[in-house]
Amino acid sequence: MKAIIIHGGVRVYGKLKENPERVDELRKAVKMGYETLIEGGSALDAVEASVRYMEDSPLFNAGYGSSLNILGEVELDASIMDGRSLRAGAVGGVKGVRHAITLARAIMEETPHILLVGEGARKFASIIGMEVNEDLVYEARKQLYEAYMKGVGKKGFPSYLPSPELIRNYLADTVGAVAVDDKGRLAAATSTGGIMMKLPGRVGDSAIIGAGTYANEAGACSGTGVGEAAMKVLGAKQVVDLISEGTHPQKAVEEVLRRLWEKTKTPFGFIAIDREGNIGYAHSGVGLWYAFSKGGVIEAHVERRRVKVEE
Ligand code: GLY
Repeated sequence: MKAIIIHGGVRVYGKLKENPERVDELRKAVKMGYETLIEGGSALDAVEASVRYMEDSPLFNAGYGSSLNILGEVELDASIMDGRSLRAGAVGGVKGVRHAITLARAIMEETPHILLVGEGARKFASIIGMEVNEDLVYEARKQLYEAYMKGVGKKGFPSYLPSPELIRNYLADTVGAVAVDDKGRLAAATSTGGIMMKLPGRVGDSAIIGAGTYANEAGACSGTGVGEAAMKVLGAKQVVDLISEGTHPQKAVEEVLRRLWEKTKTPFGFIAIDREGNIGYAHSGVGLWYAFSKGGVIEAHVERRRVKVEE
């Protein structure tokens, strides 16, 4: 059964404000992916379509509207994976390319490599005809950046390092999608500007196959949260391994969130899907923005209930 579930990031700490506009954007993004499936597109086409929609929206931390690094620049990470072939493509720390997910897919399909970073990734994007000089800085993000830079001295943060307080107070969200098509093919995709005020050159889980994105013949998973935590435990791969052993995607994401907390004491979020179109979504933070579509039904929400973890 064809189905798709997407996320618009997890809020890991602090307060979650109502944001109907964001929920509406999620609904449109998931519709884009589901319609791709209805029109005969593959699971890969569907996850790319939904993620591209969110990369265009300034309401999400991906593409246009991404977080800024400590120099006030946008550096993007993204990855995509085809479950049946285990082919994957990823990009880390690339500048000026709005649709990092499409670049990741091109790396998967047109090169013998999986991960390209920085200038090399940008050069490859240029060679295949992608626009590589886009201004991806959204005004609201710039204001956040300027406010932070003003407070640097007062709060005593070292001006060149993202402090734990900073990570607590600023969003570390991401966008992602996982889908299954009518042929039972699974795919996963994740895209992000990464953590606000990150060091230039920092690459997070969204670019790392197995950490923020994974898919095989049995399941697919995309993660969101502070990437360093998922990189330590290869969170997305763990979720898909559990699905491969017969665990329902909902139970799988909950179990891996507990393991991730146990090992890293960091809240996180995952979405997942299996070959039958069963979906899972959960987080151990404050809220997870998600939407899904299956059997003609579309739902978009913020999940506030959190997986219980031992504090
Ligand atoms: N999960 C997004 C990041 O840490 O970059």
